[in-house]
Amino acid sequence: MASIQDKLSKPWLLFPAVWGHHFAPTALKIYSSLFPSEHKWEPFKWKGLEFNNRLGWAGGFDKNADLLSVSQKMGLGFHEIGTITPLAQGPNEGKIIARNLAQLTLWNKMGFPNKGGAKIYKKLSSYQDIHIPVFVNIGKNRATPLDQALSDYLKMITLFEPRADVFVVNISSPNTQGLRQLQDKSHLAELAKNLRAATKKPILIKLSPDLSDTELYMALDQSLGNGADGFILTNTTLSRKDQGMWAKEGGLSGTAVKNLSKEMLKKTISVCKKNGSGPLIISVGGVLTEQDVFERLELGADLVQIYTAMVFNGPVFIKKVAQFHGSAQNEKHG
Ligand SMILES: Cc1cc2nc3c(=O)[nH]c(=O)nc-3n(C[C@H](O)[C@H](O)[C@H](O)COP(=O)(O)O)c2cc1C
Repeated sequence: MASIQDKLSKPWLLFPAVWGHHFAPTALKIYSSLFPSEHKWEPFKWKGLEFNNRLGWAGGFDKNADLLSVSQKMGLGFHEIGTITPLAQGPNEGKIIARNLAQLTLWNKMGFPNKGGAKIYKKLSSYQDIHIPVFVNIGKNRATPLDQALSDYLKMITLFEPRADVFVVNISSPNTQGLRQLQDKSHLAELAKNLRAATKKPILIKLSPDLSDTELYMALDQSLGNGADGFILTNTTLSRKDQGMWAKEGGLSGTAVKNLSKEMLKKTISVCKKNGSGPLIISVGGVLTEQDVFERLELGADLVQIYTAMVFNGPVFIKKVAQFHGSAQNEKHG
């Protein structure tokens, strides 16, 4: 159990998780204005895009493009918006988020609540002076049948083409019925091929941690064979190993997905990267400490993303990562 002291030092943990979800954007806007910072550790260049450092928020953290200038002010290296669907939609019915502080695990069943492509595109276009790369995470509407999913993804690519630096194709959320079937061989090949033909911008495929090895290698092969530029590994998990207290539906993040995500990273690196070159690989899932960030980079990830760490550690986590990098460098050279 987390101590009262622990909760008092992170007051948002005293309130229900869903409140935190609603109030976080305002709190982060205030925080970033009070404590702006720039963190230039391990700058990175990829396909003409310049990253000040290797850390960003994961998909779903800024669903409606409300926090672009906030993440830039807080010193993140890049920003992902979405998952965005063509039409606005609300969350799934019933409880949508819960947390277990002792296990550092979140459960969510959100199902892509977002303001819809047109509104979010307008919002994205309203930003001036954003100089960190912007990733646009796209999905299909809940009501769109699976055999028409391609059309939803294509609509989003066409709409966001002028403003996106990179597209993230989310086919791995467990909270939109049937979505994960898009990771099957024939669906994935068709999707990747058609999206490739629709944009010159880089395309990353976001995969599930619940794929078997055979499914993973097939997904990597089909994606790269049809023109994808990289992967985000991973989304939340449906597995309930040592975490039996949660409902069967809904995805787990944080500790519950940590090992799955790390193993998938290792397998992907071993087949996709040669001497550090190959598709872009972003590691996400259970990155909860500063050490975790650098472990993923040492394993071969190019970039790292966080969601659950923000909930349990708060915004100070970003600064701690930069400081940890600084002291590790000092130790190395001093
Ligand atoms: C409340 C919540 C909402 C999420 N929404 C999305 C989403 O809209 N799109 C997406 O690609 N991933 C979404 N994710 C998954 C995260 O991007 C990430 O892949 C996952 O949480 C594992 O990382 P973590 O352990 O650092 O949280 C969501 C995760 C959480 C906890």
